[in-house]
Amino acid sequence: MTTRSLIVAALAAALTLTAVPANAHRRDPDPLVIGHRGASGYRPEHTLASYQLAIDQGADYIEPDVVSTRDGVLVARHENEISGTTDVASHPEFAGRRTTKVIDGTPFTGWFTEDFTYAELSTLRAKERLPQVRPQNTAYDGQFLIPTLDEVLDLAVREGVGVYPETKHPTYFDSVGLSLEEPLVAALEAHDLDDRSDDVIIQSFEVTNLQDLNRMTRVDLGQLVDATRGPVDLPGVTYASMVTRQGLRAISTYADGLGAHKDWVLPRTNGATTTPSTVVRDAHRADLVVHVWTLRRENQFMATNFRIGTDPNAPGDLFAETQAFLDAGVDGVFSDNPDIASAALADWLR
Ligand code: G3P
Ligand code: CA
Repeated sequence: MTTRSLIVAALAAALTLTAVPANAHRRDPDPLVIGHRGASGYRPEHTLASYQLAIDQGADYIEPDVVSTRDGVLVARHENEISGTTDVASHPEFAGRRTTKVIDGTPFTGWFTEDFTYAELSTLRAKERLPQVRPQNTAYDGQFLIPTLDEVLDLAVREGVGVYPETKHPTYFDSVGLSLEEPLVAALEAHDLDDRSDDVIIQSFEVTNLQDLNRMTRVDLGQLVDATRGPVDLPGVTYASMVTRQGLRAISTYADGLGAHKDWVLPRTNGATTTPSTVVRDAHRADLVVHVWTLRRENQFMATNFRIGTDPNAPGDLFAETQAFLDAGVDGVFSDNPDIASAALADWLR
């Protein structure tokens, strides 16, 4: 078999495991602004303060990435290795927990949530992930706790916004006996957020846990597709194959949306965006909504045609970038800067 046919066969084989049709998703009337890790352009990511600011800035959804503690408590962190976003390294009582692990094929050295009880994690404080890029956010270092998923859901319910949890490293967590899906579904049920009509979307870079979740919950599901590589649970399958028309139709058998790296929608040539790809059109034809990530105001995260000046950490034209993606037909944007994305959306709708 050729490489291409091997990939297609692997994806098709994986997808034939899905006997349950995807939940009938609701298409929101207007595109969504999703507060990526909260309003992480302005506060240390994945803190209640970051989520609250995202809400205050007009986000329709807040986005917790979810990992597990040793005692099975789901908490909001982008990775299970927490040295970059907490003060764990300055806690001598945890020095002996520093270790090296291989997560999804890549070695990481540091401290891992699954080696801490929630009580222990709650003694840590969050810090800015990108202090060189966002030095103003370091003023908040040490102020905020690592929130539990329950606390994030409480906030979303209280404020009347949607919640967009992402299961991080689900196959890895399965392998250490801390499966994410069951406690996630239970938490949604406990918050009465388990109906098809609820503003909840569960996302994953992996495929098989979304297929499992499609059997476990009625809330919407989003397949994340990165710009390179492929889902770690399906070796040989590439994200490139998943955004073909055939791949998108396969995704629509178990998911309701595509969470696409922005390069899939507005490809770049020599660093600048070009005309939109067919991914949005093809996804819509497959009955998938499309949400792109991640829109960030700093120049270094933008295509060259949206940059202002040459300082990589200075703000570029996120307003224009957001509207370019809206023009390309996306149904939502993940942004670290929900204030700018919301303003751009409001202007675009006018
Ligand atoms: O979930 C959308 C986007 O957040 C995926 O990337 O790495 O920021 O979780 P990441
Ligand atoms: Ca995420």
